Parts: sequence; structure tokens; C-alpha cells
Amino acid sequence: MNARFDYKTGFLAIPEATTAAQGAKAPYVDHGAKLISPGIYYSKEHAELEWNKMWTKVWCWVGVTQDLKKVGDYFRMEVGRESFIIVRSAPDKIQAFYNICPHRGNWLVYDDYGSIAKGDSFYCNFHGWRFNIDGSLKLIKDEELFRKETIADLKELKEVRCEVWNSLVFINMDPRAQPLEEYLDVVPEHLKYSPFDKMRVYSEIMGDVEANWKVGIEAFIEFYHSDDTHPQVLPISATLKTQYDLYKNGMSRMIIPQGRNGDRSDNPDEVSDGLKGFVSFFGGNPDEFKNLKGQEYQEAYAATLMKWAERNGYTDMFSKMNHSQLTDDWNYHLFPTITLNVFAWGVLIQSWTPHSSGDPEKHVYRAMTLHLPLKDQNQHVMDPMSYAVSAAKGWDGTGPRPQRLIPQKLEDWGTVLSQDMYRVPKVHRGVRSQAYDGHRLCESESRLRHYLAEIDKYLAS
Ligand code: FES
Ligand SMILES: [Fe+2]
Repeated sequence: MNARFDYKTGFLAIPEATTAAQGAKAPYVDHGAKLISPGIYYSKEHAELEWNKMWTKVWCWVGVTQDLKKVGDYFRMEVGRESFIIVRSAPDKIQAFYNICPHRGNWLVYDDYGSIAKGDSFYCNFHGWRFNIDGSLKLIKDEELFRKETIADLKELKEVRCEVWNSLVFINMDPRAQPLEEYLDVVPEHLKYSPFDKMRVYSEIMGDVEANWKVGIEAFIEFYHSDDTHPQVLPISATLKTQYDLYKNGMSRMIIPQGRNGDRSDNPDEVSDGLKGFVSFFGGNPDEFKNLKGQEYQEAYAATLMKWAERNGYTDMFSKMNHSQLTDDWNYHLFPTITLNVFAWGVLIQSWTPHSSGDPEKHVYRAMTLHLPLKDQNQHVMDPMSYAVSAAKGWDGTGPRPQRLIPQKLEDWGTVLSQDMYRVPKVHRGVRSQAYDGHRLCESESRLRHYLAEIDKYLAS
């Protein structure tokens, strides 16, 4: 084990990351060393408490403004048992409504994504009521059939709070919730040089998983599992040098170094084919970097990325980032729904929400990737969801929006995600065994203790 490790001063800081305020190692937060009680992962009572006291009070990510380009564009999204319509109701206004018709409760919108033409309205396919895109009631069919007092109070759909940060759309079921940007604490400041609104939707995947939502997210907020679950990333990422930071409101971060020899390597000076391949993928020539050793190879990646930025029109954007932000994977947990894996060239957004059935032993997983449009006609896209290289070159994101993929079998999740999805349901089964004592977490898993402590605060309120 590396002699520099000391849990009291925090996990290993990345020297390059600390050259800018937004990369600095956050002070250690002591959540103790107790085992995590397994009941919170399968108890129906606990799930009900979480729903009533936490999920209905927090900012939940539902989508991106890239899917709401013009007035009338909308999408539908579920959070647990609730369904919402999110719509651009005016050029500078996005609103969110409960997706329920006040007549008999039918869903107003069934499709995932859609658009209401100018002058048209949301149409309920049960008895034909209509609502304008700002939620106001437009038509009660055969209104004379109703006694006046039955419908007298009906003016509009029920609205929920809806706010946008950096093209990410969030809703909050609590009308008294603090503003989104305040809730996000340090995150907007940290990511001020990562404008997601310059990116376009590249891929999306969504499906039910046989595990509690917390078992799901916990497989994604630590990098301790990487070497054993995702051995293919060993040559390009440094597990032990991952930096973990805990912030207010349950937010947290890990910075995963990319593009240099992994710290498990027997020969840290070696420049593996994987490392060279990473540089060639972004248009660099590994022959130009023969003087660099494995641990220094990030310099080759950084120089390659700056040239990539020049060819694709992002020099201004990339030159504002500090070295770590340019090369590494900055992973934020925006408590409770999502994590962001932020790369210079794209972002992976992942969400874990309770299942609509209320069954605590299932959850809904969704991932969406945004990528910067390319000008270089020889450049492929690196999809941050799969680390797979796209077939198409010079993708500029102007074509039809990619379909949301609903996996039918394990392989449909793609290379990296299928490795997690293979394990997550088994982890859940193990956690609910009568023989399981509870999680024994290490310091690389500090983000687990941190978000669980935040849930406890909501439950105690
Ligand atoms: S439920 Fe919508 S019109 Fe009847
Ligand atoms: Fe994983």
C-alpha cells in the first residue's frame, strides 16, 4: 500500500488537480467506521420513508435542454411512482407538470419525447380533454355533461418546481425547496469551464434493474471496484490515486486520473498499447511521445487533447481547464439522483431512481451521454458510456436524436455497464441475506457513507 495514504488527511490528492481551486482536496468528513445496516436496502418501510421524506423533497434530474430546443418540445420522465411532463412552454421558459389528467387520472403523455405544434395542445387519449403547453386547461369535451361544481376549481395541470443548471433539467416536488444552484453547492463553480450546453445528446439507455436504487448507485460512486470489475481500464486509469471529496447536501466527487499508467502496474514506466491507443484515438501520434514514461504519459494525452480542441474549435474552452480537468474523469454525485462523469470532450449522466411499483428490490437505471460536436471529419466519437469508439466520423449531432435503448439482455448494456449490471443484482441478493452483517466500507468508499448520512438527515427531519 502506498505510504502516502492517511485517511485523516484524506485520500491521495492529485497534485495536478490542486493547481486550481476547483480541484482542491476537500477537508476530511468523519462519518465513522460503523457497518452499514443492510435493512435499508430491502425494507418496504424504509423505502416508504425515503419516498415521503427524501425523494419528494429533493432536486431530481429528469433530462436535458438539448431535448427541449423549441417551444412545444417536451419529454416524459418518471421519478419513482410519479410521472412528469417537462415542456418548453415559451422561448425562455421550461415548465414541469405531473403527467396526470385531472379528469380520471390518465397519463396525458405516453411517449418519451415529443413536440406540440404551435397552437396545438396536450390531448388526453381517454376522453379527449386538452391542455395548453403552459399547463392551462384548454377544453373539457362536452362540458355541459358535468355539473358546474365538479369542475369549477379546474384551471390547470398540477405544476412542480423545475430549474435548469448547465443544460441539466431538474424537478422538485417540494414547493419550498431551496433554489437548485444553491442546493448544488460547489458543483456549478467547479464545472464553470465545462459548458454542457455546447454538447449534444449522443446516446441514451434505460432499464429496470433487480436491486435497490442504493445498491445501484453505490457501484458507481467508488473506484475501488474498478480493477476487478473493469480490468480493461487498468492500463489507462489510476485506481489508488483517485481523489475523493465530500461536500454539503450529500454532494461528492472523485477525480479519476486518466491517460497514464495505472498504479497497479508491475512496471510503472511501461507505456502500454492501451495508453498509446488512447492517444492515437484522439489523433495524437505516440511516436512523438517516446521520451515519456508510463506515469508521465498524461502529458502526451493533454497535448493530444489540446490539438484535438484546435481541430474541432474548442481551444478557448479547453485552455481554461486546469490540467486535471482536461485529462481526468471528474465524477460528481448530485445527491440523490445522478452522477456526472465529466470529461473535457463529453459527459456521462447516470441516474438511479426507485421503481414505479414501490418495490425496494428494483430500480430504474438511466444513462445519457453528451458529446461535443466534431469538426474534424477524421475524428470518431469516444462514447463515455461504453468507452467504445463510434463507427461514424465527424459526428456533429445534427442528425435525428438517438433512440433511447432499452436493453433486453446483459450484453445490450455495452462493455463497461454490463460488467456492473452483471454484478449489481447479485450484490443486492447478498445484501438481503440473513447472513450479511452490513457493508464494511473502506476510505475509497467514503462517498457511500456520505450520501447515506444525507438520507438519514432527511429521514430524521
Ligand atoms: S382521463 Fe383524461 S379526459 Fe378522461
Ligand atoms: Fe463500474
